[in-house]
Amino acid sequence: MMRRVTTVAELQRVIAQFRADGATVALVPTMGALHEGHLALVRRAVVEADVTVVSIFVNPRQFDRKDDLAAYPRSLDDDEDALRGLGEATPDLVYAPDVDEMYPSPPAVTVTVDDSLADRLCGASRPGHFDGVATVVTKLFNQVQPDLAVFGRKDRQQLQIIRRLVADLDVPVRIVPVSTVRDPDGVAMSSRNRRLTTKQRTDARVLAAALAAAVEQTRAARDAGGTVRIAELLTTMRDVLAEAPDVRLDYLEVVDPGTLGPPRPELPATSRLIAAVAAFVGEVRLIDNVELGDVDDEDALLAGVRSSEELGG
Ligand code: PAJ
Repeated sequence: MMRRVTTVAELQRVIAQFRADGATVALVPTMGALHEGHLALVRRAVVEADVTVVSIFVNPRQFDRKDDLAAYPRSLDDDEDALRGLGEATPDLVYAPDVDEMYPSPPAVTVTVDDSLADRLCGASRPGHFDGVATVVTKLFNQVQPDLAVFGRKDRQQLQIIRRLVADLDVPVRIVPVSTVRDPDGVAMSSRNRRLTTKQRTDARVLAAALAAAVEQTRAARDAGGTVRIAELLTTMRDVLAEAPDVRLDYLEVVDPGTLGPPRPELPATSRLIAAVAAFVGEVRLIDNVELGDVDDEDALLAGVRSSEELGG
């Protein structure tokens, strides 16, 4: 039976009961509007731990634009239906606090993420965003005190920042990453996709297509035992993105997976690198990435993009 709790006190009472029985606890932090990507995280959590808590909280502190916060979809009842639809993998608890419960007063102490990690990629256009994420995730960790927490690779910079949060502040939580879940046409699932028109949804395919072109170029170089040049990867991806002129690029980068900073200009084609893109399709900002050198991540991306090409998309 899945249970909904909305206060820290009730959450901790229920978790203490589970703990008394010796259960391990997994946390899946979300902002709701759940789709298959979130559900994949929950399935993973249920496999990894005895008890799974899904938090649903639209965190105002990580939105830099009021209109974006206001437009963010909220659908707690639908979300709970989706979670119950998981059958055996239904979580034990949905933790859905309101803003006053999470922030009874404006916090005087918050978590800040160093510019070296926070100001790149998504952080460059969203000032303060990752401080807001790090602060709410720290609060969630302290409220739930999970053994492990599951995060998607879809938000690759967020995942890296959470890993550093846990390492740098000695938070006793194991971070479990899950690969990006995609629609059949390769587009990464996102709560924001539902704000796209039909034409925009088709345009959105170029993000994954550009990443797939980078994967193919890297694989060809790898098969030849050669190197990749970052500048060439970027040109390849830019050419694909140009096929959808209405898509406005925010950033397109190839970065080191650990530092998220610039890699050497030319590396062995077996190297791990993150190719990441963010773009506005209409008013909606979409992001996607792939970890080059991670064959599973590459395969998942290619499978989706190729099937959409066969459909004539
Ligand atoms: P949200 O955007 O709801 O995402 C919750 C989790 O789902 C994140 O770990 C995200 O990476 C993962 N996710 C989203 N789409 C995915 C997809 N297509 N495939 C795999 N995983 C996917 O990220 C946040 O919320 C917030 O910043 C949060 C961490 C909850 C803090 O407020």
